[in-house]
Amino acid sequence: MWEKEFLTAREAAEEAGRILSNMLGRVSHVVKKGDIDLVTEADLGAEKAILKKIRENFPEDIILSEETGKHGETSDRVWLVDPLDGTTNFAHGFPFFAVSIALEVEGEIVIGIVDIPFLGETFTAINGDGARLNSRPIKTSKTRQLVESLLATGFPYNVHKKPEKVMELFEKMLVRAQGIRRPGSAAIDLCYVASGRIDGFWEQDLKPWDTAAGTIIVKESGGKVSTYEGTPYDPYQKSIVAANPFIHDKMVAVLNNQE
Ligand code: IPD
Ligand code: CA
Ligand code: CA
Repeated sequence: MWEKEFLTAREAAEEAGRILSNMLGRVSHVVKKGDIDLVTEADLGAEKAILKKIRENFPEDIILSEETGKHGETSDRVWLVDPLDGTTNFAHGFPFFAVSIALEVEGEIVIGIVDIPFLGETFTAINGDGARLNSRPIKTSKTRQLVESLLATGFPYNVHKKPEKVMELFEKMLVRAQGIRRPGSAAIDLCYVASGRIDGFWEQDLKPWDTAAGTIIVKESGGKVSTYEGTPYDPYQKSIVAANPFIHDKMVAVLNNQE
Protein backbone atom coordinates (compact mmCIF):
# COMPACT_ATOMS: atom_id res chain seq x y z
CA MET A 1 0.00 0.00 0.00
CA TRP A 2 1.06 3.63 -0.65
CA GLU A 3 3.71 2.50 -3.13
CA LYS A 4 3.15 5.23 -5.71
CA GLU A 5 2.92 7.88 -2.98
CA PHE A 6 6.09 6.58 -1.34
CA LEU A 7 8.11 6.54 -4.56
CA THR A 8 6.86 10.00 -5.53
CA ALA A 9 7.81 11.43 -2.12
CA ARG A 10 11.21 9.77 -2.10
CA GLU A 11 12.06 10.95 -5.61
CA ALA A 12 10.85 14.47 -4.80
CA ALA A 13 12.91 14.58 -1.59
CA GLU A 14 16.03 13.29 -3.32
CA GLU A 15 15.68 15.77 -6.16
CA ALA A 16 15.22 18.62 -3.66
CA GLY A 17 18.25 17.30 -1.76
CA ARG A 18 20.37 17.55 -4.91
CA ILE A 19 19.20 21.13 -5.47
CA LEU A 20 20.13 22.04 -1.88
CA SER A 21 23.54 20.36 -2.07
CA ASN A 22 24.40 22.24 -5.26
CA MET A 23 23.48 25.54 -3.60
CA LEU A 24 25.24 24.97 -0.27
CA GLY A 25 27.78 27.75 0.27
CA ARG A 26 26.52 29.64 -2.78
CA VAL A 27 23.40 31.30 -1.43
CA SER A 28 23.44 35.02 -2.17
CA HIS A 29 19.92 36.05 -1.26
CA VAL A 30 18.66 35.56 2.30
CA VAL A 31 15.29 37.06 3.24
CA LYS A 32 14.21 37.52 6.86
CA LYS A 33 10.68 36.26 7.60
CA GLY A 34 11.25 37.35 11.20
CA ASP A 35 14.24 38.58 13.24
CA ILE A 36 15.96 35.19 13.05
CA ASP A 37 13.64 33.26 10.70
CA LEU A 38 15.23 33.04 7.24
CA VAL A 39 14.32 31.94 3.74
CA THR A 40 16.79 31.54 0.88
CA GLU A 41 16.54 30.85 -2.83
CA ALA A 42 17.44 27.26 -1.93
CA ASP A 43 14.25 26.80 0.15
CA LEU A 44 12.23 28.17 -2.75
CA GLY A 45 13.99 26.16 -5.48
CA ALA A 46 13.67 22.91 -3.54
CA GLU A 47 10.02 23.57 -2.75
CA LYS A 48 9.21 24.26 -6.42
CA ALA A 49 10.70 20.93 -7.49
CA ILE A 50 8.80 19.01 -4.78
CA LEU A 51 5.46 20.64 -5.56
CA LYS A 52 5.86 19.95 -9.27
CA LYS A 53 6.52 16.26 -8.65
CA ILE A 54 3.57 15.83 -6.28
CA ARG A 55 1.24 17.80 -8.57
CA GLU A 56 2.20 15.70 -11.62
CA ASN A 57 1.33 12.50 -9.79
CA PHE A 58 -1.49 13.53 -7.44
CA PRO A 59 -3.22 16.61 -8.90
CA GLU A 60 -6.25 16.37 -6.56
CA ASP A 61 -4.37 16.28 -3.25
CA ILE A 62 -3.88 19.24 -0.89
CA ILE A 63 -0.28 20.35 -0.34
CA LEU A 64 0.72 22.32 2.77
CA SER A 65 4.22 23.60 2.19
CA GLU A 66 6.25 25.94 4.37
CA GLU A 67 7.15 28.67 1.89
CA THR A 68 4.04 28.86 -0.32
CA GLY A 69 1.32 27.69 2.08
CA LYS A 70 -1.74 25.65 1.22
CA HIS A 71 -2.52 24.49 -2.30
CA GLY A 72 -5.92 22.85 -2.93
CA GLU A 73 -9.06 22.71 -0.79
CA THR A 74 -11.20 19.62 -0.78
CA SER A 75 -9.23 16.45 -0.28
CA ASP A 76 -8.72 14.25 2.79
CA ARG A 77 -5.13 13.73 1.58
CA VAL A 78 -2.62 16.41 2.65
CA TRP A 79 1.07 16.49 1.73
CA LEU A 80 3.16 18.24 4.41
CA VAL A 81 6.35 19.63 2.91
CA ASP A 82 9.40 21.29 4.43
CA PRO A 83 11.77 21.82 1.49
CA LEU A 84 14.67 22.77 3.76
CA ASP A 85 14.58 21.99 7.46
CA GLY A 86 17.59 23.66 9.02
CA THR A 87 17.63 26.89 7.01
CA THR A 88 19.78 28.74 9.55
CA ASN A 89 22.39 25.98 9.33
CA PHE A 90 22.18 26.03 5.53
CA ALA A 91 22.53 29.82 5.30
CA HIS A 92 25.77 29.57 7.31
CA GLY A 93 27.18 26.69 5.26
CA PHE A 94 26.73 24.32 8.24
CA PRO A 95 25.74 21.19 6.36
CA PHE A 96 23.17 19.72 8.75
CA PHE A 97 19.83 20.14 7.00
CA ALA A 98 17.11 18.00 5.46
CA VAL A 99 14.14 17.77 3.14
CA SER A 100 10.99 16.53 4.89
CA ILE A 101 7.88 15.21 3.13
CA ALA A 102 4.88 13.41 4.65
CA LEU A 103 1.42 12.37 3.48
CA GLU A 104 -1.53 12.62 5.86
CA VAL A 105 -4.70 10.72 4.91
CA GLU A 106 -7.91 11.28 6.92
CA GLY A 107 -5.86 12.78 9.75
CA GLU A 108 -3.26 10.01 9.92
CA ILE A 109 0.33 10.26 8.65
CA VAL A 110 0.85 7.29 6.33
CA ILE A 111 4.29 7.97 4.87
CA GLY A 112 7.30 10.03 5.88
CA ILE A 113 10.58 10.78 4.12
CA VAL A 114 13.51 12.77 5.51
CA ASP A 115 16.40 13.14 3.09
CA ILE A 116 19.72 14.44 4.46
CA PRO A 117 21.75 15.19 1.33
CA PHE A 118 25.09 16.02 2.90
CA LEU A 119 25.19 12.74 4.83
CA GLY A 120 23.77 10.66 1.96
CA GLU A 121 21.06 9.41 4.32
CA THR A 122 17.37 8.96 3.60
CA PHE A 123 15.05 8.01 6.47
CA THR A 124 11.66 6.58 5.47
CA ALA A 125 8.56 5.06 7.01
CA ILE A 126 5.28 3.67 5.77
CA ASN A 127 2.41 3.15 8.22
CA GLY A 128 2.64 -0.38 9.67
CA ASP A 129 5.74 -1.28 7.69
CA GLY A 130 8.56 -0.07 9.98
CA ALA A 131 11.15 2.65 9.59
CA ARG A 132 14.27 2.52 7.49
CA LEU A 133 17.57 4.33 6.93
CA ASN A 134 18.78 3.88 3.34
CA SER A 135 16.38 0.88 3.08
CA ARG A 136 17.70 -0.86 6.23
CA PRO A 137 15.36 -1.24 9.25
CA ILE A 138 16.07 1.01 12.25
CA LYS A 139 15.06 0.90 15.92
CA THR A 140 15.11 3.36 18.80
CA SER A 141 17.76 3.01 21.52
CA LYS A 142 17.45 0.88 24.65
CA THR A 143 18.77 3.48 27.10
CA ARG A 144 16.68 3.37 30.28
CA GLN A 145 17.82 6.31 32.40
CA LEU A 146 17.93 10.02 31.64
CA VAL A 147 21.40 10.24 33.14
CA GLU A 148 22.60 7.85 30.42
CA SER A 149 20.67 9.60 27.65
CA LEU A 150 21.84 11.87 24.86
CA LEU A 151 18.96 14.27 24.15
CA ALA A 152 18.29 16.94 21.53
CA THR A 153 16.10 20.02 21.44
CA GLY A 154 15.56 23.18 19.44
CA PHE A 155 14.58 26.76 20.13
CA PRO A 156 11.55 28.44 18.52
CA TYR A 157 11.93 31.56 16.38
CA ASN A 158 10.24 33.70 19.08
CA VAL A 159 12.94 32.78 21.62
CA HIS A 160 14.40 36.32 21.67
CA LYS A 161 11.07 37.65 22.92
CA LYS A 162 10.02 34.68 25.09
CA PRO A 163 13.09 32.82 26.35
CA GLU A 164 11.77 31.97 29.84
CA LYS A 165 9.95 28.65 29.37
CA VAL A 166 12.46 27.39 26.82
CA MET A 167 15.36 28.09 29.17
CA GLU A 168 13.59 26.69 32.22
CA LEU A 169 12.94 23.36 30.48
CA PHE A 170 16.41 23.33 28.95
CA GLU A 171 17.99 23.68 32.40
CA LYS A 172 15.81 20.92 33.84
CA MET A 173 16.91 18.52 31.13
CA LEU A 174 20.52 19.68 31.20
CA VAL A 175 20.99 18.71 34.85
CA ARG A 176 19.40 15.28 34.32
CA ALA A 177 20.70 14.07 30.95
CA GLN A 178 24.13 12.75 29.97
CA GLY A 179 24.27 15.36 27.22
CA ILE A 180 22.13 17.69 25.14
CA ARG A 181 22.55 18.71 21.49
CA ARG A 182 20.88 21.48 19.49
CA PRO A 183 21.53 20.28 15.92
CA GLY A 184 19.22 22.77 14.14
CA SER A 185 16.82 20.53 12.22
CA ALA A 186 13.79 19.08 13.99
CA ALA A 187 13.25 16.58 11.16
CA ILE A 188 16.76 15.20 11.63
CA ASP A 189 16.43 15.23 15.43
CA LEU A 190 13.39 12.96 15.08
CA CYS A 191 15.20 10.62 12.68
CA TYR A 192 18.10 10.44 15.13
CA VAL A 193 15.68 9.34 17.85
CA ALA A 194 14.31 6.73 15.43
CA SER A 195 17.75 5.34 14.67
CA GLY A 196 18.97 5.37 18.29
CA ARG A 197 21.69 7.98 17.72
CA ILE A 198 19.95 10.06 20.34
CA ASP A 199 17.55 8.81 22.99
CA GLY A 200 15.01 11.63 23.09
CA PHE A 201 13.98 15.03 21.70
CA TRP A 202 11.68 17.83 22.84
CA GLU A 203 10.68 21.16 21.33
CA GLN A 204 7.80 23.63 21.37
CA ASP A 205 6.12 25.74 18.67
CA LEU A 206 7.13 23.60 15.71
CA LYS A 207 5.04 23.60 12.54
CA PRO A 208 3.28 20.59 10.92
CA TRP A 209 5.88 20.35 8.12
CA ASP A 210 8.74 20.19 10.67
CA THR A 211 7.49 17.06 12.41
CA ALA A 212 5.01 15.15 10.20
CA ALA A 213 7.56 12.92 8.47
CA GLY A 214 9.81 12.55 11.51
CA THR A 215 7.03 11.43 13.84
CA ILE A 216 5.92 8.49 11.69
CA ILE A 217 9.59 7.51 11.38
CA VAL A 218 9.90 7.55 15.21
CA LYS A 219 6.67 5.59 15.75
CA GLU A 220 7.55 2.99 13.13
CA SER A 221 10.97 2.49 14.74
CA GLY A 222 9.36 1.66 18.10
CA GLY A 223 9.58 5.11 19.72
CA LYS A 224 6.91 7.09 21.56
CA VAL A 225 5.68 10.56 20.60
CA SER A 226 3.44 12.87 22.65
CA THR A 227 2.96 16.49 23.67
CA TYR A 228 4.79 17.87 26.74
CA GLU A 229 1.66 16.94 28.72
CA GLY A 230 1.87 13.33 27.54
CA THR A 231 -1.28 13.61 25.39
CA PRO A 232 -1.37 12.12 21.85
CA TYR A 233 0.71 14.00 19.32
CA ASP A 234 -0.30 15.09 15.83
CA PRO A 235 1.68 17.61 13.76
CA TYR A 236 -0.72 20.46 14.66
CA GLN A 237 0.12 20.32 18.41
CA LYS A 238 2.17 23.04 20.16
CA SER A 239 4.81 20.80 21.74
CA ILE A 240 6.48 17.47 21.08
CA VAL A 241 8.41 14.85 23.06
CA ALA A 242 9.77 11.93 21.02
CA ALA A 243 11.92 9.26 22.63
CA ASN A 244 12.64 5.61 23.08
CA PRO A 245 9.83 3.90 25.05
CA PHE A 246 11.92 3.66 28.24
CA ILE A 247 12.73 7.33 28.77
CA HIS A 248 9.72 8.94 27.07
CA ASP A 249 7.55 9.12 30.21
CA LYS A 250 10.54 10.27 32.27
CA MET A 251 10.99 13.20 29.89
CA VAL A 252 7.27 14.02 30.10
CA ALA A 253 7.47 14.00 33.91
CA VAL A 254 10.38 16.49 33.84
CA LEU A 255 8.63 18.75 31.32
CA ASN A 256 5.53 18.74 33.56
CA ASN A 257 7.37 19.61 36.79
CA GLN A 258 6.56 16.20 38.24
CA GLU A 259 10.15 15.23 38.77
C1 IPD B 1 13.47 24.92 12.04
C2 IPD B 1 14.35 23.76 12.47
C3 IPD B 1 14.92 23.99 13.85
C4 IPD B 1 13.83 24.25 14.86
C5 IPD B 1 12.96 25.40 14.40
C6 IPD B 1 12.36 25.06 13.03
P1 IPD B 1 13.41 25.63 9.45
O1 IPD B 1 12.93 24.74 10.76
O2 IPD B 1 13.61 22.55 12.46
O3 IPD B 1 15.66 22.88 14.32
O4 IPD B 1 14.41 24.53 16.11
O5 IPD B 1 11.99 25.63 15.35
O6 IPD B 1 11.49 26.08 12.64
O7 IPD B 1 12.95 27.02 9.70
O8 IPD B 1 14.87 25.51 9.36
O9 IPD B 1 12.66 24.96 8.35
CA1 CA C 1 11.43 23.37 9.42
CA1 CA D 1 12.05 25.09 6.25
